[in-house]
Order: sequence, then C-alpha cells, then structure tokens
Amino acid sequence: MPRLLQLDSSADLTTSRSRAITETFATAWRSLGEDHTVVHRDLHREPLPHLKDAALHFPPRLRPKGASPSPRQEELQRVLIAELVAADVLLIGVPLYNYSMPSTLKAWVDYIHLPTVTAPVDDPASQQPLAGRPAVLVSTRGGIYDAGSPTEFDDHALPALTLILGNALGMTVETIVATRTLSERFGAPTDEVAAQHRELAAAHDTAVQAARRLG
Ligand SMILES: Cc1cc2nc3c(=O)[nH]c(=O)nc-3n(C[C@H](O)[C@H](O)[C@H](O)COP(=O)(O)O)c2cc1C
Repeated sequence: MPRLLQLDSSADLTTSRSRAITETFATAWRSLGEDHTVVHRDLHREPLPHLKDAALHFPPRLRPKGASPSPRQEELQRVLIAELVAADVLLIGVPLYNYSMPSTLKAWVDYIHLPTVTAPVDDPASQQPLAGRPAVLVSTRGGIYDAGSPTEFDDHALPALTLILGNALGMTVETIVATRTLSERFGAPTDEVAAQHRELAAAHDTAVQAARRLG
C-alpha cells in the first residue's frame, strides 16, 4: 500500500499556493490506484506544541542525568516518527515566512529529528530508517529568488530542511518551487505577474509528474 504523508503549513486557508500544489500532488497520487493512500497532517490548523524540554531531542541514553521530559510529548514524538517512517513518500508545503519555514513546520521538525532514532550518531547504517526515501518540498515564496539575483540565497527554509531531511535522515530531497506569489498583490510589472503564472503552472505540472514517478 504506497502511502503518502502530506504536510501543510501555510497560514493562508483561502489562496495558498503551497496548499494547492500539495493537493495537486495528493490527487495525482490517489489517482494511481485505490491502494495509494494519503495521510494528511495540517500543521497550521492543528499545530503541534513546541518542545517543552530539550531532552526530547535525545534518546534516554544521551539525556542529561535526571532529565524527565513530559511523557505526553514523548508519546507525541513516537506517533509523529512512526507516521513518518510508515510513509513511502513525504510531501511538505513550505511557504517562506520571514526567510525561514513557518514555526508550525519547525515544531514538527523538532519532534522528528531524533538522533539515534531517525538520524545517525555512531552507526549510520542502523539509524537512518528513512534513508533513500523521497521527500518532496513544495516551496512558495512571495518575492524573487532567481539564480544570479541579489536575493538568490535568501531562502533559509529549504537549506535547513535539506540538511535535516537529506543529510541527517538520509532522505532523497527534491523541490518544487513557485516564486513571485505576491507580484499581483504588490502591483508588480506585467512581465513579473506573467512569470508568476508560468512558475505556478509549471509547479502544478511538476507535482503531477512527481506523484506518478514516485507512486
Ligand atoms: C508571516 C509571513 C512572512 C512572509 N515572509 C516572506 C519572506 O520572508 N520572503 C518572501 O519572499 N515572502 C514572504 N512571505 C510571502 C509568502 O512567502 C507567500 O505569500 C507565499 O505564497 C506563501 O505560501 P502560500 O501561498 O502557500 O501561503 C511571507 C508571508 C507571511 C504570511
């Protein structure tokens, strides 16, 4: 049963581009067959609590003496990691918020990045249960981040997610990007608005192709 884990984090519940693109992906995934299931977690509508205790970032053997993190949060962490490990493909909507990822998505990352359980500390082979698993990041940004432009490297959401999911967890990360999403609202020149529409259409096409390839 090929299973997709779809995470959304946009706080825009009406015009979100990332939500629309992840939905295009999920619809294409479902259309591959009844056995293709989707588990959807909306990190904005149902936000996770922030980690109350840094000890949750470590397994018991690496925690400071006397550490006793909340059993409820330990259980939540166990559930979130099990949900991730059970997924064949991870799909995340990543709107760019203040050059970073939404705090709701960061809270999820703080739970699932658990050295010795999802990421290696001393034995890489045995501690990367997600190694090679696809992670598709749907990145939407209001501004322009074209190669060669002064803002090319100002997105700090994708690099952080790629470090965690790709380097630490060993997943195979790919991105689908739509920029200039605020061009109409800010009265940008018509060529910028046209570029935004082209990027958005291409992102939806790429989402369909990726779902078919990975499903
Ligand atoms: C709180 C907040 C912060 C934002 N910060 C940035 C930013 O730093 N850079 C940028 O290009 N756009 C920024 N934007 C615009 C969003 O990236 C843009 O609207 C994008 O389309 C959001 O994704 P969505 O369409 O899925 O909601 C911000 C929007 C919000 C709501």
